[in-house]
Amino acid sequence: MTDADAIKHLWTHKTQDHPHLPDEALLFERGQGIYVWNREGRRFIDAFAGLAVVNAGHGRPEIAEAIAKQAQTLAYYPTTRQFSNRPAAELAAKLAELTPGDLKYTLFAVSGSEANERSIQIARHYWLKAGRPRKYKVIALERGYHGATLGTLEVCGIPELFQAYAPLAWPGFVKSPAPYPLRDRALGSDEQIVRRCAEALADAVLKEDPETVAAVILEPCLSSGGVIIPPLGWLERVRDVCDELDVLMIADEVITGFGRTGKWFAVEHEAVVPDLMSVAKGITSGYVPLSASIARSKLAEVFAEDSRDENVHPNTYCGHPLACAAALANIAILERENLVENSARMGERLQQAIERRIGGLPIVGEVRSRGLLLAVDLVDPQRKGQALAREHVASLDMRAWQRGVIPFARGSVLRLAPPLCIDAAQVDELAALMCECVEELQDAVSAQSKNSVATGAA
Ligand SMILES: Cc1ncc(COP(=O)(O)O)c(C=O)c1O
Repeated sequence: MTDADAIKHLWTHKTQDHPHLPDEALLFERGQGIYVWNREGRRFIDAFAGLAVVNAGHGRPEIAEAIAKQAQTLAYYPTTRQFSNRPAAELAAKLAELTPGDLKYTLFAVSGSEANERSIQIARHYWLKAGRPRKYKVIALERGYHGATLGTLEVCGIPELFQAYAPLAWPGFVKSPAPYPLRDRALGSDEQIVRRCAEALADAVLKEDPETVAAVILEPCLSSGGVIIPPLGWLERVRDVCDELDVLMIADEVITGFGRTGKWFAVEHEAVVPDLMSVAKGITSGYVPLSASIARSKLAEVFAEDSRDENVHPNTYCGHPLACAAALANIAILERENLVENSARMGERLQQAIERRIGGLPIVGEVRSRGLLLAVDLVDPQRKGQALAREHVASLDMRAWQRGVIPFARGSVLRLAPPLCIDAAQVDELAALMCECVEELQDAVSAQSKNSVATGAA
């Protein structure tokens, strides 16, 4: 059977990101550091770290060895029914040390979606235990993304993802706007935009009645919604709103956690401690799927140690030993190689290199970043302030492919999130190649508008 025949059976994500390529050219076989090789043996810079997952980089023998050793020792034992296993316990203790404030108790799951499900479920059970059973609603942000399960699609703020399930919508989920300075500039300065969004959030909770609202869930940087990076100060305002109205704050750090934004966790840019933090992706750098919901002490403490009541139900692979062993080895690499600091330094370098070279192009609305999470937001030069046509932006994926780079271009935004082990020379190469792509797109857009003026004049 050829690869092409085999792929026909694979339910791939038919987004036509690379419409001119056969599916088999997009089959990847090997990875090392920031590079991946496809089936044809061509090398690419993995400029989106898979799906912003492979923080430690590809091909790490220490992680592979930790997984193999654990598989030989004890491949599986649950962390349900009071059982546990050593890697799960050690990792929970490590997370208690790494996460800010009193985020001390970890409930593991497998995917980022499930981590958010657990966070929402813990919030609900907390209020039940606290004797306030009417608190169940969850407020989320427009443009936010929290996963692909039916539950997390209820808190999704990206219409094209949740619309299909609208007939299944459950009551109790409400959306509020997120600060998006490039698009919200008419509202004033960054501080004014943050204030307006914080007021809108407070109004949303008040309108629902705070006594019925369990939690606010948000991404510190809204990744899938377009790498929207709210100004610093936003998370503190959200924390204030949650405290004033007695609502829990859930930070979805599925993408931003484990160094992606230049701190271990993105909430640390503002010294905010959420009540619950959902993590996944970078916790194992993707070597084995693993996620977690991490709770502050006050939440865990309402569940009595000797209680026999069912509360938040874990799943079969909660705290899987192989995944937890992979996470411990992965975190050891992040620590030993100072990859969180590297993310901050290399992110700054990438931002500067890109900003300097293409920041002034008419199609470039903004280059923004936090650590190694970077976006080039593209605008239509003919209609100032409006997004550049999606097809133009999407063409950046193919332009990059031709140059041996895999970024992620979607909506109006070109996104970069390379592995955190990227070095200065690699950053410079990546910046130069991506700038070439954007310059080429600029030429194409300018030529098209000249043509349409000429045709209109004819
Ligand atoms: C912020 C955020 N939350 C949750 C998820 C869902 O994670 P998963 O795809 O592992 O379920 C994602 C996935 O990209 C994400 O970016």
